[in-house]
Amino acid sequence: MSKSMMQAVKSVVGQPLVLHEIEKPVAGPGQVLIRVEAAGVNRPDIIQRAGRYPPPPGAPETLGLEVAGTIEAVGSGVSRWKGGESVCALVPGGGYAEYAVAHEGSVMPVPKPLSVVEAAGLPETVLTVWNNVFHMGHLKSGETILIHGGASGIGTTAIQMAKALGAKVYATAGTDEKCRLTESLGATRGINYKTEDFEAVMRDAGGVDVVLDMVGKPYFDKNLTILKDLGRLCYIAFLQGSKVEGDLTRLMMKRLTVTGSTLRIRTDEYKGMLAKGVVEKIWPIIASGQFKPLISHVFPLAEADKAHAQMEANDHAGKIILQVKA
Ligand SMILES: NC(=O)c1ccc[n+]([C@@H]2O[C@H](COP(=O)([O-])OP(=O)(O)OC[C@H]3O[C@@H](n4cnc5c(N)ncnc54)[C@H](OP(=O)(O)O)[C@@H]3O)[C@@H](O)[C@H]2O)c1
Repeated sequence: MSKSMMQAVKSVVGQPLVLHEIEKPVAGPGQVLIRVEAAGVNRPDIIQRAGRYPPPPGAPETLGLEVAGTIEAVGSGVSRWKGGESVCALVPGGGYAEYAVAHEGSVMPVPKPLSVVEAAGLPETVLTVWNNVFHMGHLKSGETILIHGGASGIGTTAIQMAKALGAKVYATAGTDEKCRLTESLGATRGINYKTEDFEAVMRDAGGVDVVLDMVGKPYFDKNLTILKDLGRLCYIAFLQGSKVEGDLTRLMMKRLTVTGSTLRIRTDEYKGMLAKGVVEKIWPIIASGQFKPLISHVFPLAEADKAHAQMEANDHAGKIILQVKA
C-alpha cells in the first residue's frame, strides 16, 4: 500500500526553511491526529533550528510545538475526542506541517470566542506560563509580578493571565512602544530595559513577589534584590547566559525560592495535568474577554523562513503564527 504523504517544513542547520514532502503521521494509542490549520512559532523553534535544542527521543524532527485545527482521527483508547472537533494542542514537535499528532491529554478545545489562528498561539505559551508562574511560582491574587520580555509571546500572555487572576503586573521590554503595549495589556508600568534600570524602578515600587525571567545572567542578582520576603524567581530561559553570580545572603535573609523548568521534556501525564488546569482556569478568562492572544503576524506555512527572520530580529510583539490552510 502506498504511504500517505503531507507537506511539512524542512529544517537543516544553516539553510533556509523550505517545504518538503514527508510521510503523514498516524495516531498511535492514546494519540490524536490533527489536520493543522495554524501553528504557533516559538523562540525554542529558532534554537532547535540552530541545532541547540534537539527534539526529545521519539518526537518528530519537524519544528513546531503548538497547533490548532480539526481532529482527523483518534488512536486506540482515546474516548474524550472524536473526528471533526476543533482543537488546539501542545505537540512534542511536528507542528509546522499539514498534520500533527498530539497526546490526548495535551489536546484542548478551541476556546470561545477565538479563531483557530488565535488558538494556535495558546498551547505552548499558556501552558508554560501556567506551569512556571502559577503552578511552580504560586502567584496569588493581590501579589506583584515582574515579567521580563513583556512584549514577547510568553510575556504578552503572562501579563494578561496574571492581571486577570488578580496580580499587579510590571514588565520589561526593549522599546518605549513595546512598554506602552505591555501597559495596554494590563501592566501597571512597562520598563524600557535599554534606557531604565528595572532594579531601581521596582525598588521604588516596593518590590515584587514573583519574577518571570528569560534573560538569565545579567538579571540574576538584580532579581534577588527586588524580590520581597518569600519571593519566587522563575526561569524559563537564559537568553543572555545561564551561568549566574549573585549574593546568597539575599536568598537566605528573604527565604526566596529560585525555580525553573522546560515544558517539552515533561511527561504526557504532567502536560495533561497542566492542560486540564488551563482549560478550567484560563479558558473562562478568554471567554470573558479578559485575555486575548496578541497576534503579531500570520505567515503562510511556506513562508516559515520569513516568520523566523522576524522573530530573530525581535521585530514582533506577541505571537507569530503560520497558517496552513487559508
Ligand atoms: N521553559 C519553557 O518551557 C519555555 C517554553 C516556551 C518558551 N520559552 C522561552 O521563553 C522565551 C520567550 O519565548 P517567546 O516564544 O515568547 O519568544 P519571543 O517572542 O522571541 O521573546 C523573546 C523576548 O526576549 C526579550 N528580551 C531579550 N533580551 C532582554 C532583556 N535584556 N531584558 C528583557 N527582555 C529581553 C525580547 O524583548 P524585546 O523584543 O522587547 O527586546 C523578546 O520579547 C524564549 O527565551 C523561549 O526560549 C521557554
